[in-house]
Amino acid sequence: DQSSTSTIPDTRILRYGDVSLSSPDAQLGIRSALDSLVSKEMVIYDQITTTSYVLTSEGEEIVREGSHEIRVWKVLPVKGQGEAIGVPDLKKLLGDETTKIGQMRAFKNKWIAKEGSGFVRAVEAPSDETAEQLRIVLEKGDYPAAEAVLKELQKRKLIQPRKHIHYSISKGPQFALEVKQLETDLTVEMLQSGAWKDASFKQYNFAAAGQPTEHGALHPLLKVREEFRQIFFDMGFTEMPTNRFVESAFWNFDAMFVPQQHPAREVQDTFYVKEPVKSLQPESAYYERIRKVHEEGGYGSIGYRAPFSKEESERLLLRTHTTATSTDMLYQIANQPGGFKPAKLFSIDRVFRNEATDATHLAEFHQVEGVVADYDITLGHLMAFMQEFYARTGNHKLRFKPAYNPYTEPSMEVFAWHEGLKKWIEIANSGMFRPEMLEPMGLPKGVRVLGWGMSLERPTMIKYKIQDIRTLVGHKTDLSLVKIRPAVRLEKGDETF
Ligand code: PHE
Repeated sequence: DQSSTSTIPDTRILRYGDVSLSSPDAQLGIRSALDSLVSKEMVIYDQITTTSYVLTSEGEEIVREGSHEIRVWKVLPVKGQGEAIGVPDLKKLLGDETTKIGQMRAFKNKWIAKEGSGFVRAVEAPSDETAEQLRIVLEKGDYPAAEAVLKELQKRKLIQPRKHIHYSISKGPQFALEVKQLETDLTVEMLQSGAWKDASFKQYNFAAAGQPTEHGALHPLLKVREEFRQIFFDMGFTEMPTNRFVESAFWNFDAMFVPQQHPAREVQDTFYVKEPVKSLQPESAYYERIRKVHEEGGYGSIGYRAPFSKEESERLLLRTHTTATSTDMLYQIANQPGGFKPAKLFSIDRVFRNEATDATHLAEFHQVEGVVADYDITLGHLMAFMQEFYARTGNHKLRFKPAYNPYTEPSMEVFAWHEGLKKWIEIANSGMFRPEMLEPMGLPKGVRVLGWGMSLERPTMIKYKIQDIRTLVGHKTDLSLVKIRPAVRLEKGDETF
């Protein structure tokens, strides 16, 4: 009734019933209309949820034709007045379903009895309780005062519950029959014309969530890099300058005693730079010592006894490991004013390898690398050091496996126990740098250097549960994910990376 306000009751129930289940959209529509009226204080409402029951198609059939058991009873002869009917004939008369369920239930109710291989009636006129109950549910949507009956009928799939949503709506303080357009802003025009006096203003919604602000974000690799940097700093390391992506083969390989014939130096593994064709010259005496240790040996070594090519040494390439930088740094430390001083150095930066890319390999990735140079360092120091370093990343159980690097002896792969996967995972490559590398630099004879390296991508992928490295960097990266990925705390991890 829209004729006058006075005919409208203070509270009315909007029955909304079955629509709610079949059409969530319609329900949302009503809800949002109500909410909008509430925001204007025109109404207040309560939501009331009730349940009623409707018959399934089988339930309806029972109301029309009687229960399966009564149908079985009906076709059977009275005891002594006809031939008993067996299951195959019942099936022909009533169908498989009714025969199966009806015969069983009629027998249980003692409405029918066995006679020979068939059945006959055992009672006179049984009352069809199921059909009766269903008739009541059909009429009332409920079976008053008997939960158990409803449960049983529902279990037999004869009825189904229906949820109903009603709204109990009352007039609000601003109740009206027309929705007044509320002003959202006080304008110059309203002030000039005086319209502001009669205007109604929309309430501020202080609880509304604001627009997310645009912001930059650190890439996941940078977040994990930051964690490693902190660990290194905490352990007294200094960061090496790693901004030289292009290195000479001299620093990347020769100075590290990697033979010029080593397979890793071939173009399949290394990206060579076409221009400029040659690198700058290393200090000539140092170059000469390196040439000599390769060709002839020295420092207790017999060398590779293969020709050493200056041209090969001068080739420019994209560094294949950050150990090129470590080598340069060790050389500088050996030759610094005041002579050698013990050092702990680290770097985390990009390296390049001419490899086919797949889910776990990219042609460029990052290396985390550390070197420690001091007098009389042993393999025991290296192992203890690895224990300490990796414990700070949450990895407490380590194993070491002998390995081979041209520039370290001994060399070891480091494995960590992965509690989740229940297996040992390789986490780093490490070793004691060879005298053929260290002594030509001019490092004092007693100085030993330990070093290790690993990729930054692997722990990052594990920490952020990234399956494919190509979604971590490159054009397939999802920038919205980059924005929301939280920082990681390595030592808090229960996983090995
Ligand atoms: N350069 C090695 C690599 O690329 C890592 C390493 C660094 C090994 C220092 C030993 C010593 O895997």
